[in-house]
Amino acid sequence: MKFQLQTFANPARLLEADCDCLVVGFGGQKLKGLAKAIDQATGGLLARLRGEGEITGKAGQTLLLQAVSGLKARRLLLVGTEPPATGSGPDAAALARAAAKALAATRAAHVIWALGEDEGAWTHALLEMQQADYRFDAYRTGEQPPAPPERTLSFATADDKRHGAMHARLAQAQAIAHGVALTRDLGNTPPNICTPAYLADVAGTLAKDWGLEVEVHDRAGIEALGMQSFLAVSQGSTQEPRLIVLRYQGDKAKRAPVALVGKGVTFDSGGISIKPAEAMDEMKYDMCGAASVLGTLRACAEMRLKINLVGVIVACENMPAGNALKPGDVVRSLSGTTIEVLNTDAEGRLILCDALTYAQQRFQPDETIDIATLTGACVIALGHVRSGLYANDDGLGQALLAAGDKVSDPAWRMPLDAAYHESIKSRVADLANIGGRAGGSVTAACFLSRFVQGRWAHLDVAGTAWKSGADKGGTGRPVPLLAQYLIDRAAS
Ligand code: BES
Ligand code: MN
Ligand code: ZN
Repeated sequence: MKFQLQTFANPARLLEADCDCLVVGFGGQKLKGLAKAIDQATGGLLARLRGEGEITGKAGQTLLLQAVSGLKARRLLLVGTEPPATGSGPDAAALARAAAKALAATRAAHVIWALGEDEGAWTHALLEMQQADYRFDAYRTGEQPPAPPERTLSFATADDKRHGAMHARLAQAQAIAHGVALTRDLGNTPPNICTPAYLADVAGTLAKDWGLEVEVHDRAGIEALGMQSFLAVSQGSTQEPRLIVLRYQGDKAKRAPVALVGKGVTFDSGGISIKPAEAMDEMKYDMCGAASVLGTLRACAEMRLKINLVGVIVACENMPAGNALKPGDVVRSLSGTTIEVLNTDAEGRLILCDALTYAQQRFQPDETIDIATLTGACVIALGHVRSGLYANDDGLGQALLAAGDKVSDPAWRMPLDAAYHESIKSRVADLANIGGRAGGSVTAACFLSRFVQGRWAHLDVAGTAWKSGADKGGTGRPVPLLAQYLIDRAAS
């Protein structure tokens, strides 16, 4: 997808603009601006459509019209905007989503976007359009619906003084969208293909394409490092685990990096504490945290952000086997803390604890953010709308929430009170790997907090990293949140 800015001195000029589709906001009691100009040029078409109840102006409602006489554009997409489309809050994102969905059903290649005139609205437009045009049919044979055309989004503006800043912001949105697409692809790739070794290959390609440093450790390497808790989860699988370390150096070498740590369970069967069969296929998405680390690094590299980043990915399968980890086993983490494994399905924290220790010991990061499809309990708490956010620092927590709101990838702050730690006490080891059903997402986060020293945040994306049902598939979340947070951080 391409984008550009196009200046129109006044709304009437848009009537003569040559394009495949003109996207126009429509709402309010009286027609104004462009809508009014279109109404006049078409002999009162919009007023008539509203009079007949064909379109009401309600937010998110769309109406696609072909070959409207009086308009040069080959199509006109009307998008209801009540309440108004201005601003970059969640409403602007919803409008952009509705417009993008309607556009995705068309063959319109050159689109003039005259819906909201600010970076916020346009950022949403670019992100949503790329999302709506996303396809994943690498594993289908036979006749396919045609791929969407190579689209160009032209953002209509009356103000050419701000083109530079606007263009820079749109380039960021584009980079975020590319990161999202990579993360979606990885999530969607079947688990017999997307193995730990495959994730390491993708990291290698990313490093080559974007000038990152990459390092991959296999089973023997992980053992030599002393990550026994991570190894214990992978021991029942014939797929070898991988520890993947990626570095992006956009700032002075001596600046401490931000560490992004991702859960990369390429298939979570539950292990000996095996999961029920229903929807078990969805546990191929249990590597979405790792995929979001890759997507975010790609986005930041494309933006050439002035920041240092290190990505640490722990990738393995969680499988039952004769030599698999068992309930009751005690493992020794890299930090030295011993863990009693009471449920082999609580494997995410067992691999992440070693990754967190490793990231801190090796890189002394300024702050650490881990991303994981960690608990079903988080889905119960927050559903599929907001990701669970835990932070041991209020500034970091606030900044992540604000970043998520800006790009319509929202999170919600969850607690880390000391009292929750009661439930992860073990009778035989330093810690137990489960804390019972109550507050399951919180106790998982509390477990992780035991393996960090400095500023740290944890995103539980179990409810947001993929969708189930008719539109089952990876979402690319929380790449927008993370990328926006890093943009804001690099600028401050
Ligand atoms: N990967 C799952 C979490 C998950 C489950 C995400 C369902 C999305 C949907 C994780 O490894 C897991 O199995 N967690 C257990 C923990 C429990 C055994 C304490 C869970 O949530 O049931
Ligand atoms: Mn599990
Ligand atoms: Zn899992």
